[in-house]
Amino acid sequence: MTVLVTGGAGYIGTHTLVELIAAKKSVLVLDNYCNSSVKSLLKVTEITGVKIPVIEGDINDKECLNNIFTQHDIESVIHFAGLKAVGESCEQPLKYYQNNVAGTLTLCEVMGKYNCKKIVFSSSATVYGDPTTVPITESFPLSTTNPYGASKLMVENILRDLYQSDNSWNIAILRYFNPVGAHQSGLIGEDPNDIPNNLMPFITQVAVGKREFLSVFGDDYDTKDGSGVRDYIHVVDLAKGHLKALGKLEKNIGCVEYNLGTGSGVSVLEMVSAFESVNGQKVPYKITDRRPGDIACCFAQTDFAENELNWKAEKSLSDMMADAWNWQKNNPNGYE
Ligand code: NAD
Ligand code: WQD
Repeated sequence: MTVLVTGGAGYIGTHTLVELIAAKKSVLVLDNYCNSSVKSLLKVTEITGVKIPVIEGDINDKECLNNIFTQHDIESVIHFAGLKAVGESCEQPLKYYQNNVAGTLTLCEVMGKYNCKKIVFSSSATVYGDPTTVPITESFPLSTTNPYGASKLMVENILRDLYQSDNSWNIAILRYFNPVGAHQSGLIGEDPNDIPNNLMPFITQVAVGKREFLSVFGDDYDTKDGSGVRDYIHVVDLAKGHLKALGKLEKNIGCVEYNLGTGSGVSVLEMVSAFESVNGQKVPYKITDRRPGDIACCFAQTDFAENELNWKAEKSLSDMMADAWNWQKNNPNGYE
């Protein structure tokens, strides 16, 4: 029995493969490498000693999916495959809806056909829009502010409808807060194309000398120091959450949403000073205008995942900083 990992060559997928293999799971990766390369999977092999079976293909390709389900005994799917750049999704919304929404429809249709009805889906805290209070529980109202977020919320709604229509599905919707850091080995990590959109890879690229300074997007928010506050979670903790969710699907849970975060809010300026003190590296920064569409503050209430999945983020902010830097300094150009 095998776990199909769509998007397994990506940032969160590679870290999850390491945990799946440690738990002796048989895995098969499906990835079209639109935002990754086979090199990341070779690094997973270096860490685990296990060659990763991979099919280069697209979740939109029904024939490819049919072949996978005919030729392999797939018992469940962890579905990471998706596009994730918020700005790009505003410029090319159709690309995002086609890839993230239509691709997931095709995947679910083929899964159903082969009676494989267990799926863990990568959702995002972006489905909470601009929350009126924090911490955010799973029952908060849902809304989105950009096509990327809308694609995640649409897939969530599709999965909830799918379960309503057929109770034999088991679906874990994981709402990630802000994944950062890297595997302790420094062999795998986040490898953004071009200029990073997210804070953590931007900080590490400034520290390694690839960028001159960090722009801190606003210091006039109603937060502890005026800069934006987020719930940063170590990617290895996040990966472990997927294993717990997969185990939970065995217990006929139905369709359930879980916040995966630490429950702590950290500001941009606190991120910079934590990075500097943990790694002894300066991160020059300038305060600039707010980034359009950004919210002031977002962090999770994590009790539900703790109680239901028996999972809790264990790594500290210092671990996140040390591991992100270890990856960046050993691989200044990512997997290149
Ligand atoms: P990533 O880009 O590193 O990994 C995604 C992988 O999916 C890549 O290897 C890419 O090549 C592959 N892929 C994309 N479209 C595909 C398709 N149509 N068919 C086959 N493969 C395809 O991103 P990540 O950070 O690892 O994110 C994984 C998932 O988690 C995504 O769905 C993302 O939206 C979601 N998520 C990420 C974050 C974050 O900040 N990283 C936060 C919340 C949710
Ligand atoms: C974090 C904080 C910025 C960059 C995005 C997506 C979300 C999810 C995670 C996938 C904010 C500030 C950032 C910089 C800065 N992705 N910042 N200078 O915005 O919480 O979420 O990634 O699902 O959908 O929207 O994360 O890392 O971009 O920003 O000051 O160069 O850092 O303003 O306060 P965000 P982020």
